[in-house]
Amino acid sequence: MQRIPLIAAALLAGVASAHAADTSDAARRGMEHYRIFCANCHGAQADGNGPTAKLLKIAPTDLTVIAISNNGQFDAERVFKALDRRHLVGGDARMPVFSDNLEIKTALDIVEFLKTVQKR
Ligand code: HEC
Repeated sequence: MQRIPLIAAALLAGVASAHAADTSDAARRGMEHYRIFCANCHGAQADGNGPTAKLLKIAPTDLTVIAISNNGQFDAERVFKALDRRHLVGGDARMPVFSDNLEIKTALDIVEFLKTVQKR
């Protein structure tokens, strides 16, 4: 399964250069997936205030400030990798493991959606 991250990297590059209309389609699909897989913890507004957030020992990240906290740059690769425990982004993996559950395409769509909710 070592190949998957490489394929994903290629897809990410493709998404970055995709036509704007395709990108908004991806973001729309990503929002649907986000609601199913992520909103419980990260909140419907992606601000980290989902219904189960207060039950967790570690607060879910506010996903609307990914760009702000990285000099205004939205790091799509880092977000994508957060969904795959083979890549530890926070030093330790405290999120559910999505690597075997989320299809790469689904994860990429979610990344596209999160790009649209960034605060400036
Ligand atoms: C069970 C609750 C839960 C669910 C469901 C969940 N997360 Fe998280 N997420 C967390 C917590 C808690 C953290 C903070 C982890 C840490 O600090 O180590 C986090 C961190 C993150 C980060 C920041 C990683 C970094 O350090 O850069 C991203 C991006 C992220 N989540 C995206 C998502 C996406 C997208 C989904 C849906 C596919 C999702 N999460 C589903 C709880 C959750």
